[in-house]
Amino acid sequence: MKGRTGFGLACLLIGLLLTAAGGLPEGYWDAPRATTSQAPHEWSALERNLHPEACAQCHVEQFNAWKDSLHAHAYSSGMVGQFPAMGLAEANDCLRCHAPLQEQRYRHDADMSESLRLRLQHYNGFNREADIDAVRLPLRHSGVSCAVCHVRGWQRFGPPRRGQQTERHRDAPAHGGFTAVRVFEQAQFCASCHQFPATMAINGKPLENTLTEWKESHFARDGITCQQCHMPERRHEFRGIHDVDMVRKGLRIDARLVGGKAVLTLHSRHIGHAFPTYVTPKIIVRAEARDAAGARLRQWQWEIVREVVYDHGWQELRDTRLRPGEVRRYEVGDWPQHTASIRFAIQVQPDAFYKGVYRNLLADKPDALSARHLERALRRAEDNDYMLYEQVLQPG
Ligand code: HEC
Ligand code: HEC
Ligand code: HEC
Ligand code: HEC
Ligand code: HEC
Repeated sequence: MKGRTGFGLACLLIGLLLTAAGGLPEGYWDAPRATTSQAPHEWSALERNLHPEACAQCHVEQFNAWKDSLHAHAYSSGMVGQFPAMGLAEANDCLRCHAPLQEQRYRHDADMSESLRLRLQHYNGFNREADIDAVRLPLRHSGVSCAVCHVRGWQRFGPPRRGQQTERHRDAPAHGGFTAVRVFEQAQFCASCHQFPATMAINGKPLENTLTEWKESHFARDGITCQQCHMPERRHEFRGIHDVDMVRKGLRIDARLVGGKAVLTLHSRHIGHAFPTYVTPKIIVRAEARDAAGARLRQWQWEIVREVVYDHGWQELRDTRLRPGEVRRYEVGDWPQHTASIRFAIQVQPDAFYKGVYRNLLADKPDALSARHLERALRRAEDNDYMLYEQVLQPG
């Protein structure tokens, strides 16, 4: 824990790094590097340690939220299980978003196979009480980790203190203080991993188009950023479609009988992009007519999805997603004679696309290490399906 000397060094570095207009140092997301060859010599071992368990010793609140988020689990079995068949260069290209620091890259093939083996053996999540000196797993295993967003050239970057605007270096009794930059509070901060360039469009829309969808919505005009929904009060939760409460908060759902019809209404009320924003989830809306004994007489089904296939390049098959603010009605009429009840149900499959990917890869008989990762990923993806909504109506 060092104050003054660290401050001097920090100011010098930041003077060099900050662009004239302020904001993030140039190239913050371009082959990002959290360290330089030499750590500030007066720093303690704890200040030099970039593992999230080290940050946790002083930033317990952020750590406790982050460790349960998907960012903490971005170095996933579903991804690394694909690496042996892809090779080193392509694997490192995937790490660009899943574990992007130069310190997280694979240096050679042996590095990669060792890391895949370790990932199978040691996967119990993250624990603040862990003996920090005994955390021997490579930094890449912590995926989109604290240092990925906050550390460059040893320096910490973060948002200005709450209610303040000034972008400047601040002294603090650890890691040479930090530099406050307002981009941390802006949607643009999330774009490097959640938005593909427009040049990669398929049917006019890139596969990842979250920032553009947001910009076109009233949330952008009203100044409601990604952070306000996904990091409320700066909590590092990053909850999304895998979290039933988050999805319920985003929608207003209503089912009722109207003029001889059963109508389910879905209103995308508080989702700052398409529902869902990616091509990977699928939402299944079902209606069933049942008789008095509960037997099914007839069924209706709709799907909310942006469906793409890869066949000599990507093609879009359909896009039935809800845009921000959109109200969608699903109507059922003409039910069979002895219908006693109509049951609506909405099921969410957050990893629908990946389930297919893992099954196809497993059918191709991959090597044993890949197969163990992919089987694990498939089980997890299947377990992630959940029921969002159920309602039974009784037509008179
Ligand atoms: C020994 C304790 C300690 C450790 C370890 C530590 N920090 Fe800090 N950090 C602090 C203190 C103290 C501050 C100043 C807080 C303030 O003044 O609001 C701070 C400030 C920050 C800020 C700026 C917060 C803001 O208001 O914008 C960020 C970002 C940050 N630390 C990230 C990290 C990361 C990432 C790690 C791990 C790689 C880490 N810190 C490790 C003590 C620590
Ligand atoms: C531009 C950033 C980016 C790149 C590059 C990238 N991903 Fe992802 N990946 C994401 C995001 C964002 C998600 C979460 C949204 C989703 O589920 O589609 C994700 C989710 C996944 C998932 C499902 C969740 C999990 O981790 O199990 C897999 C598997 C995956 N990616 C594999 C890959 C592979 C393999 C590559 C390289 C060919 C790759 N990714 C490259 C951003 C990226
Ligand atoms: C995906 C990027 C990302 C990751 C990963 C991440 N942070 Fe943050 N962090 C942010 C953003 C963005 C903000 C500002 C949020 C806002 O202003 O609404 C922030 C704010 C902070 C702050 C200031 C909080 C406050 O109340 O003023 C601290 C401290 C911090 N992060 C530490 C950490 C630590 C420690 C970890 C790992 C356990 C971590 N962050 C992981 C993006 C990230
Ligand atoms: C360094 C790249 C990176 C940055 C920066 C980043 N993310 Fe992510 N994010 C990912 C990846 C990769 C995943 C998928 C993790 C997985 O499941 O493997 C993800 C997952 C998510 C999820 C979970 C989605 C779900 O399927 O439930 C949310 C929400 C999210 N990010 C929001 C944000 C927000 C908000 C920001 C900006 C403050 C941000 N991310 C910045 C890479 C990033
Ligand atoms: C008004 C609140 C709100 C805003 C603003 C918002 N989101 Fe979301 N986001 C949600 C809700 C609610 C969900 C869950 C439903 C869903 O998946 O669409 C979600 C889901 C997600 C997911 C899960 C994957 C998926 O396919 O849906 C990611 C990733 C994500 N948001 C990233 C972002 C990013 C990046 C931004 C800023 C460009 C952003 N969000 C802005 C509310 C918001």
